[in-house]
Amino acid sequence: MTESTGQTAIAHTNIALIKYWGKADPALNLPTTSSLSLTLNEYFTKTRVEEAAEDTLLINDLPQDSQRVHDFLNVLREEKGDFSPVKVISENKVPLSAGLASSASSFAALTAAVAKYNGWDLSLEELSRLARRGSGSATRSFFPGFAIWEKGSNDHDSFAHEFNVPDLPIALVVCKISGTIKKVSSSDGMRRAQTSPDYDQWVAESAKQLDEMKQALSQSDLDRVGQLAEANALAMHDLNLTATDRRFTYFNQNTMKVFEQVKVLREKGYLAYATMDAGPNVKIITNQEQAPAIKDFLAERFRKIQFDIATPGPGISYE
Ligand code: PMV
Repeated sequence: MTESTGQTAIAHTNIALIKYWGKADPALNLPTTSSLSLTLNEYFTKTRVEEAAEDTLLINDLPQDSQRVHDFLNVLREEKGDFSPVKVISENKVPLSAGLASSASSFAALTAAVAKYNGWDLSLEELSRLARRGSGSATRSFFPGFAIWEKGSNDHDSFAHEFNVPDLPIALVVCKISGTIKKVSSSDGMRRAQTSPDYDQWVAESAKQLDEMKQALSQSDLDRVGQLAEANALAMHDLNLTATDRRFTYFNQNTMKVFEQVKVLREKGYLAYATMDAGPNVKIITNQEQAPAIKDFLAERFRKIQFDIATPGPGISYE
């Protein structure tokens, strides 16, 4: 049996410590703020691109009809030159229930696989720029460890780069609070959040927090990293609550309870700060030494919630 020609890429997902939450240009996915993330070792997407009669998509062995993926393949054709139809076979090791953006690793892996398949010789920054059109958070999934997506001002200068931090023993305790599909997509959530009267203030504050975060990371000050990430996430979620267009929240009762316990953990002397994205699952920022004890502490109090420990992950790779 002959194997059909194809190319496989693996991208790990990332968690934003300084969030992307708003678009300056929705068509081009240009953000209102720069953002900073940590790539995670435990969760990834493996995507193979093969020749086919028409563009098709298979995720975890199931055929999917995703307009978003079709549109994205056409964006790549417009940007880099036409290529024949492809079959996209994707294996997602990002459990939906973990509340981590599988779109980040999915669009990063797809961009890299299509580029390699077509023999395009592109830098990581150029791959990041292209992936932005599929999903903003995908810009940051090409890089190991920490990455910064510079917001830029146009289609050409808005992409991510690595932010090198030597050996920071950071870990995340991921709380899988809800397995349900999110009710407000990140794009819709952003559109609505941008109607908050506090939005401009958030944009200004976020730039300051990013500068401070870079400093805290460079000084290996993990406590400050956690403080800034928690403050940035809570401010993002405040925007949703104060949106004038259909205010909403991703918090549910368990989310609130976990946030409370994170405070209790801090009072007990643990390094523990919470962050959260477009869903009710909380991610607790800590160090690798304390992560197992924090996981046990929470597992005892929340018997129905599952907890994972995640650590810094690698950049894009190929098979
Ligand atoms: O990648 P998108 O367009 O689904 O946006 C992701 C937004 C957040 O996950 C909430 C924040 C971020 O910076 O990843």
